[in-house]
Amino acid sequence: MKNIIIANNKGGVGKTTIASQIVYALANKGHSVIGVDLDSQRNFTGSFEDVTDLGSALDLVTKGNPVVGELNAGDIGIVSGHKNLQAQNSDDVLLNVRNGLSKSTGADFCVIDAPPSFSEVVYGALLASDYLLVPIELKRFSLDGIEGVLEAFIAAQEHNPNLALLGLLPSRFDAVKQGERDALVALAESFERLIVPHAIRNRTLMCRPRMPGLPYPTSRHAAAEKRRQSSARSLSGFMKKLQERHAMARSLTDTLEKLAASGKLDKFSGGKQLDEDGAYQIDLASIEADPDQPRRMLDEGKLHSLSESIAAQGVLQPITVQPKNADDKHLIIMGERRWRAAQLAGLTPIPAIVREATAELRAIQLTENVQRADLTTMGIAQAVDQMREDGKKRPEIAKALGWSESAVSRYAGIAKMPDELQALARLSVPILALSDLSSLWKKDERAVRAFLAATPTENISRVTVAGLRVEIDAGQGAHSTDESDQRDQPVSRAAKPSRFLSEIAPDPEPEAIFSLTGPVAILCRYRADIGRILTDRKATSNTALMVSFADGNRIEEIALSEIELLEVIDA
Ligand SMILES: Nc1ncnc2c1ncn2[C@@H]1O[C@H](COP(=O)(O)OP(=O)(O)OP(=O)(O)O)[C@@H](O)[C@H]1O
Ligand SMILES: [Mg+2]
Repeated sequence: MKNIIIANNKGGVGKTTIASQIVYALANKGHSVIGVDLDSQRNFTGSFEDVTDLGSALDLVTKGNPVVGELNAGDIGIVSGHKNLQAQNSDDVLLNVRNGLSKSTGADFCVIDAPPSFSEVVYGALLASDYLLVPIELKRFSLDGIEGVLEAFIAAQEHNPNLALLGLLPSRFDAVKQGERDALVALAESFERLIVPHAIRNRTLMCRPRMPGLPYPTSRHAAAEKRRQSSARSLSGFMKKLQERHAMARSLTDTLEKLAASGKLDKFSGGKQLDEDGAYQIDLASIEADPDQPRRMLDEGKLHSLSESIAAQGVLQPITVQPKNADDKHLIIMGERRWRAAQLAGLTPIPAIVREATAELRAIQLTENVQRADLTTMGIAQAVDQMREDGKKRPEIAKALGWSESAVSRYAGIAKMPDELQALARLSVPILALSDLSSLWKKDERAVRAFLAATPTENISRVTVAGLRVEIDAGQGAHSTDESDQRDQPVSRAAKPSRFLSEIAPDPEPEAIFSLTGPVAILCRYRADIGRILTDRKATSNTALMVSFADGNRIEEIALSEIELLEVIDA
């Protein structure tokens, strides 16, 4: 039996919804499946009707009773959630859950729905699982938690070498929200290998899996029934992606190795025992940010929402600091944002793990800083430079960060860019736009300067730079045939979504959730309207495209510089 746990310490990210969909999908494929609801909310239990009752999860948690199914092919059995599960935090809980789940028998799969915290119950389940799938929401606040989830995974893997990470699964993805699309790109750039290349879209149909054997309710309405069938078909596409992940899950662990030295076992202790286990309550005033760290822009709004949550719940995840220095201060290794937010919340002291800042830990710190979404483009470039100064070669840096080598080169190239472009890097203009501008600068410095003077910083993107490129090329009368130049062409870059996005974006029809492959359409924004680029119709100017709005009721020719590319979807 393979145990799959769906967990994240963030609430409401879609764990239960995805867990129940996986149960149905596996059963539809003819597997026998046990679902275990470890959450006192019992939502997972409520997703099933007419399935075999396999008792209460409270017996598993309090007595370590093994989960026994004896199910036939295609059958589903449920170990129900219980309202008292949340209160279970005795010392035996972790071992009970681990022992009960590792002895589970009588089915092909056991799918475990975890509550939104890394409690003893969840750690026990992680210790008995073969796979961990982590749904994540692309709202910024959720992204902050990824570091903690990965640390928890490493901590659990230390004691359960069988545990493999299926990956981070973007959930409840709302493609219309610019912030979510940006987060997806940032996430892909930082953690590409760790992400399941498939987004679960924000769709209400997703949330009502009730009929046994069917992932969605059947409907008497023909259109809804068609959507249901399409969703069920695409669910199998999602399962295929998970199967591919299964093959690569173990190698993902390499990517996480760099986190391993950052306090592997700290998360095990959880709650009040943390103090005995290495996390101390340290006064905020005796902690300082590390002045040697790349400067990052801390978003004040985000900091405030974090501080509100800290004021309500305290700091849940300890920060990591160095031992006191000559000034009697601990410098922060990880968790500057939590420390600042705790200050805003008027909190003192804060839970902190004290570690020597070894060279290895410093490398981890740099890597993690590079991977934080709140670093400016220049901040990332400085961190990459620091790694180079520390003697790391380009391929090593690429491997440590999970990037391509060319991405490392692009950041390393910022130091050689003209001052004007370096200033933009400090304002966080995206790296690809900067590299494109830098190559155009060599071609036509005046045109680039004019473009920069006329374009507000927040509008400088690969797409607007692509417009400039077209203008420069048109002005020069001919396209360059130089091979290296063509390779650098921003137009093609702008038009071609990243490999990750092209994999993740497909959405077969408005109400379907899981992607199917097929012909694609490119969605774009022009002022307040969202349209579809007509790839089969040429505009009168070669710096414009034909765009269809309102389902083809309005077709207009739009200048390239006015178009913002949104996403590529299944047509
Ligand atoms: N893809 C989706 N589209 C729209 N709504 C969704 C989607 N996935 C989940 N939801 C809704 O979001 C809410 C939270 O989802 P769900 O219960 O699956 O999350 P969870 O991570 O299990 O939450 P909790 O942490 O409370 O256990 C529910 O109301 C659910 O119906
Ligand atoms: Mg849930």
